[in-house]
Amino acid sequence: MQRIFSGIQPSGIPHLGNYLGAIRNWIALQRDHECIFCLVDLHAITVWQDPVALRQQTLGQTAVLLASGIDPKAHILFNQSAVSAHARLAWIFNCVSRLGWLNRMTQFKDKAGKDRENHSAGLYVYPNLMAADILAYKATRVPVGDDQRQHLELANDIAQKFNHDYGTDFFPEIEAIIPSGAARVMSLRDGTKKMSKSDPSAQSRIDMTDDADAIALKIRRAKTDSEPLPTEIEGLHTRPEARNLVEIYATLADMSVTDVLARHGGEGFGPFKAALTEILVETVCSIGVETKRLLDAPDYLLSVLRDGAARANAIAEPIVSEAEHIVGFVK
Ligand code: TYM
Repeated sequence: MQRIFSGIQPSGIPHLGNYLGAIRNWIALQRDHECIFCLVDLHAITVWQDPVALRQQTLGQTAVLLASGIDPKAHILFNQSAVSAHARLAWIFNCVSRLGWLNRMTQFKDKAGKDRENHSAGLYVYPNLMAADILAYKATRVPVGDDQRQHLELANDIAQKFNHDYGTDFFPEIEAIIPSGAARVMSLRDGTKKMSKSDPSAQSRIDMTDDADAIALKIRRAKTDSEPLPTEIEGLHTRPEARNLVEIYATLADMSVTDVLARHGGEGFGPFKAALTEILVETVCSIGVETKRLLDAPDYLLSVLRDGAARANAIAEPIVSEAEHIVGFVK
């Protein structure tokens, strides 16, 4: 059985982009993989986090993941900082990875913007830690949204260079698993920007804890143009907001975009948004209700994370110890 690793930052509430781009896939992959899912708190603090909020959000995200269908008994769910192997392997990878490679990372450029000098060194070496997350378990398949594609290519470059530099085949190749639809869910306020936890406008995203009224309002206010929906897929190419809403609908309804347009093409946005709201409420609200129930049991959430960390550590420790031996550390 192949091993899966994936992670999410506990830096806010998971949104529809996280769900459609990653979490939904994680649930499906549990059927025939050994899965390790991680709340990446080391990654979260590459940008300053309020400590009280970080602790709360780590438990909050655990609740959302469990409510979405992660099975913490059959698989592993834990927070990154509880397994020291991640940070140890990341340091080795900091020394394997090249500045030239990191300089090409578009996500760093997007996050740091023009004010590059003022960002943490952690944000810059973030992709090296990501590579360590995966390779500390020798995981071979990584389900992520499209925005992580470049980071996974870099992880493979690091694994290859490590193997080459130390004359070994210790680290395996990683395969990214990116969904065919909704791999990049866009902001509801601007179809050219990715839906993101860090967008200051709460109207730009659907949070997985939103209730039916909040979802209805956000979809009603979602930016669109004044044309009816096209009947052919080509008609969406120059209409990013329309395309985003149609893709979200198609993914939630398990339909192709072509079939959605066959059904709704020619309609104005009023009726289409009503149909979209209905299907969103169905999925998101059931997860939200279960999340709230789980949040009332913080001891249970903590026990899931602790148990997950112990099991994650049992896998990662021998692998990272061996990597340390390979580079020449006295053990
Ligand atoms: P993060 O926390 O930004 O996002 C978690 C997952 O959600 C996906 N995602 C999206 N998918 C579609 N549309 C969107 N608008 C959208 N926004 C986010 C992300 O692609 C991701 O799969 N660096 C990672 C976390 C990480 C990780 C790892 C992932 C750390 N180590 C190792 C895989 C393997 C991140 O910041 O994800």
